[in-house]
Amino acid sequence: MQNILITGANRGIGLALVEQYLAVGGYRVFASCRNPEAATALNALTQANPQTLRTLQMDVDDEASIKRAVDTIGADSDRLDALINNAGVSGGDDTRNLGQLDSAAVAAVITTNAVAPLIVTQACRDLLKRSDNPRVVMISSGLGSLARVDGNAYGYRMSKAAMNMAARVLAFDEAMAGIRTVALAPGWVRTDMGGPSANLAPEESASALLALIEKLGATDNGSFFRYDGLEMDW
Ligand SMILES: NC(=O)c1ccc[n+]([C@@H]2O[C@H](COP(=O)([O-])OP(=O)(O)OC[C@H]3O[C@@H](n4cnc5c(N)ncnc54)[C@H](OP(=O)(O)O)[C@@H]3O)[C@@H](O)[C@H]2O)c1
Repeated sequence: MQNILITGANRGIGLALVEQYLAVGGYRVFASCRNPEAATALNALTQANPQTLRTLQMDVDDEASIKRAVDTIGADSDRLDALINNAGVSGGDDTRNLGQLDSAAVAAVITTNAVAPLIVTQACRDLLKRSDNPRVVMISSGLGSLARVDGNAYGYRMSKAAMNMAARVLAFDEAMAGIRTVALAPGWVRTDMGGPSANLAPEESASALLALIEKLGATDNGSFFRYDGLEMDW
């Protein structure tokens, strides 16, 4: 049984990843979200899968809640095999459009999307080091690629570019030796963030991401892939 932590697991791609990992089997899933009381779908899944799914409270912007959640995993299990940093925000118009930008709002998107996953990874490092196949996944975005110059979305794009840099540095940091880290773009997905016109259902993206994550080899460390395995330009 492998242990996996998925952040932002109460809706969207995070919830779909939980469902996919439970369906595949062989995983104990720790699903974190900032407000478990309101996580109706996740709570129903937890009731149906009491042995293999545990919900944890974690606001990725709150270091105390990260520590509490990771301590709970450590008390429950001897190791963590995979961390999927999925929680993220898109930001409002005051993070998107020149002329409307608000520095605190832009900084908040960068904190949640880039700084928080780095801090969550730091908190999980000791548990990951106890696995014989540890991996860290940053759920990034094609909009984080410096090769793309279509449109604005300053805060979101900057946050995902910074997340990608965190993935690169973590992948080759001696302090993370033995832990594979990748950035993955989930595609355009029909979630609250992606909107109803997106071309992928959450379960399509999540099942492809799972397949990719589960076949990551040593040479993939420090890479940036799209959900379907296409290597992305940084
Ligand atoms: N959908 C797409 O087309 C698309 C494309 C590229 C990349 N992505 C990335 O995929 C990931 C998931 O996106 P999604 O489409 O599933 O978005 P979503 O439906 O808006 O869900 C976002 C999730 O992140 C959680 N979250 C936000 N801030 C948090 C915080 N401070 N602490 C803990 N959880 C927090 C939300 O929790 P609450 O319910 O509490 O708000 C929710 O569970 C994000 O990183 C996003 O950038 C999505």
